[in-house]
Amino acid sequence: HLPKVYITRRIPPDGLNILKQSGSCQIEQWDSDDPVPRSELLKKVSGVQGLYCLLTEKIDKEVLDAAGPSLKVVSTMSVGYDHLSLEELKQRGIRVGFTPDVLTEAVAELTVALLLATSRRLIEAVDEAKNGGWGTWKPLWMCGSGLTGSTFGILGLGRIGEAIAKRLKPFGVKKFLYNDIAPRDELASRISAEFVSLEELAKQSDFITVCCALTPETQEICNKHLFSRMKKNAIFVNTSRGAVVNQEDLYHALVNGQIAGAGLDVTVPEPLPTDHPLFKLKNCVILPHIASATVETRNAMSALAANNLLAGLRGDAMPKEVPL
Ligand code: GLV
Ligand code: GLV
Repeated sequence: HLPKVYITRRIPPDGLNILKQSGSCQIEQWDSDDPVPRSELLKKVSGVQGLYCLLTEKIDKEVLDAAGPSLKVVSTMSVGYDHLSLEELKQRGIRVGFTPDVLTEAVAELTVALLLATSRRLIEAVDEAKNGGWGTWKPLWMCGSGLTGSTFGILGLGRIGEAIAKRLKPFGVKKFLYNDIAPRDELASRISAEFVSLEELAKQSDFITVCCALTPETQEICNKHLFSRMKKNAIFVNTSRGAVVNQEDLYHALVNGQIAGAGLDVTVPEPLPTDHPLFKLKNCVILPHIASATVETRNAMSALAANNLLAGLRGDAMPKEVPL
């Protein structure tokens, strides 16, 4: 009997082909672009050996109990794994795969796009041009702030932060600062970034971008204390997880002019309801969690998640395994 695998969504072709062509598992799939209903997931995981999931599925005690003792591997097609109850997985001896590295470039690229869209007020400007706001060329109109000569702060320096900094160097950023749980000297030296306290990061940076994982330590780390210390001309960008930000605090900072603008690729909840107050602000650019959304990257993520799953089922080392 081949091991059973459940895939919680329609996924890019590369990943699905790897699983099918391996001939080493029986695949069942929620064949839709929309998330599998929770009740369906709880039913379908029963007795599977492998679970291929996305960041939209909470894999917690309830799911793992529903799966039962057969479950050996959970493979998520994401770099973030805050949706997985690691403690529960560890207790059961279930191995976990994720997809770092393959999305670093795409996420860094989108972060730069979001930085520019926010600092140069692109969405607002396009609206003005389309809707009659473009009276004439005006010296003081639609002015934002430039990256050239700026101080750039990275909150949570890892692969993605490094890739962002590399892309921003040619823009003429003058100085890179970062804050993390501890200094990361080797990584930081590659981009000449200086380790500072969170308070200094807030005070000195013209731009702050968040690139940390969501953990109990980083939950709402971006709150009124941070925003109130930031420069009035500062731009805040988040492409990590929505829950690292206290959104109410961010809203007030944007409305009260404590900071100049915010660009968010991630929110709480997702999707953010269309009547959410943040959508009403001209100085807030909100994207629907698309940082890794290039065709090549999503294919690579799906393939890596498939290879993690197959390696886990064989009992081999996974290409990218979450240490538990
Ligand atoms: C996307 O947010 C991911 O974690 O891959
Ligand atoms: C802008 O278009 C300029 O000519 O300064």
